[in-house]
Amino acid sequence: MTSQVRGSQLARLLGQWHALPGRRRSPDYAALAAAVRGLLADGRLPLGVRLPAERELADALRISRTTVSAAYRQLRETGHLASRRGAGSWTMLPGTHRVASSGLWTPSDDRDMLDLGIAALAAPPQLLPAARAATEDLPRYLGGAGYHPTGIIELREAVARGYTERGLPTRAEQIMVTSGTQHALDLVLRLMLPPGGGVLVESPTYPNGLASLAARRARITTHGLSTDDAGWDGELLLGSLRQGRPKLAYLIPEFHNPTGHLMPAELRERLVATAHSVGTDLIIDESFVDLPLDDTVLPPPTAAYDRHSRVISIGGMSKPYWGGLRIGWVRASAPQVQRLAAARVGVDMASPVLDQLVAVHLLADAPAIVADRRRQLTAQRDVLIDALAARLPEWRVTVPRGGVTLWAELDGPISSALARAAEDEGVRLAPGPRFGLDGTLERFLRLPFTLPAADLVEAVGRLAAVRYDLDRAVRPQWREPAVIA
Ligand SMILES: Cc1ncc(COP(=O)(O)O)c(C=O)c1O
Repeated sequence: MTSQVRGSQLARLLGQWHALPGRRRSPDYAALAAAVRGLLADGRLPLGVRLPAERELADALRISRTTVSAAYRQLRETGHLASRRGAGSWTMLPGTHRVASSGLWTPSDDRDMLDLGIAALAAPPQLLPAARAATEDLPRYLGGAGYHPTGIIELREAVARGYTERGLPTRAEQIMVTSGTQHALDLVLRLMLPPGGGVLVESPTYPNGLASLAARRARITTHGLSTDDAGWDGELLLGSLRQGRPKLAYLIPEFHNPTGHLMPAELRERLVATAHSVGTDLIIDESFVDLPLDDTVLPPPTAAYDRHSRVISIGGMSKPYWGGLRIGWVRASAPQVQRLAAARVGVDMASPVLDQLVAVHLLADAPAIVADRRRQLTAQRDVLIDALAARLPEWRVTVPRGGVTLWAELDGPISSALARAAEDEGVRLAPGPRFGLDGTLERFLRLPFTLPAADLVEAVGRLAAVRYDLDRAVRPQWREPAVIA
């Protein structure tokens, strides 16, 4: 999919490009080239998009065409731009980085390791009673074969009720239970994405989502989120849909992983309308929707704006309840659910009945469990932010209004180096590039606040020491990455 950035769009992304550090020392063309490289490295300007013609960008930035020409020349020389006479110039990165087709590795069972690679809480105390109660229910199912490709009816009803209570009337026939949200995504991609089909994702985004897309040979394009409060740039996001007309877009509007952004209602409405007009189906990942923090009010679900079955919502129990349950779901039209169930029969047939019964019991107690989780997460988030402010004050964080992660902007492109060094000090990290394509996002680090407060403080202390050492030692080592979730 070739997508083009207009002069006015690039000018907006560049912002105060000529006020960047070093401006006094470097000429305008070099400052402009550096700013474009920065946008590429941060994943805000996607790779493989056509930049505006020199004249157009010169007009938009109110500078001379010679300056733009020289900047483009420098970008070509550094391997950030490929040009063909008469056809234009495309963004690229030096070298050939690619997304790994598998995002998962087996975590080691090192108990002293503080694992900040995983953004998920330990099980709530209500889990064990729910599991006991589920075994009492099991006899009702033992007379049948136990295969329920769309899920047991009690759980489908409970999940449908949850959507209805959020303002999106939903029937059990519109729900299919899966083995986690990741499984839901994979099944939806199997059904809806032809090999090589185009998919638009946010940058940064959830790494295992990228792994699913890579496994289905998706042609991935990105919408770069800003690091400030806004997150999505509506005009650019909708512009990418109109230009690229991807088959699918995979988006995380509620407390986006990793940035924690929340998409406003007005953009949800425009997103669904635009997706419909260009023929794009939206996969909306609602993994974190139950976890608004402070008094954040949730906008209506994205699917509430859908009149044409363009939106497939996926979600699950892992973030508010427990990842070890492996219960997720898809909300779609009833015919789509039937097609998904047919596709599933060739994969894993059905989800375990007992686990689904545990989920039913947990959902019956949802208000109390989720309120506890939100209190716990709010306290841990605040501890993490305070610890960062005290020990690593050069790092910038925007306080997320929900979810379980911070997206820290570091004091340099050091994320991978920091992650490698931190492992030696007993802290496992998910460095920024894991959340993007092609080795971008080295200036960012995802920090989950899912560990207990004391562990978070300890981890930040170790990170501060590692950061200090990093300037003094060069350690060109490679280590096997661990699981990220
Ligand atoms: C955005 C997002 N989607 C999906 C998943 C996978 O969730 P599950 O454990 O339900 O498969 C995660 C887990 O980290 C996630 O953050």
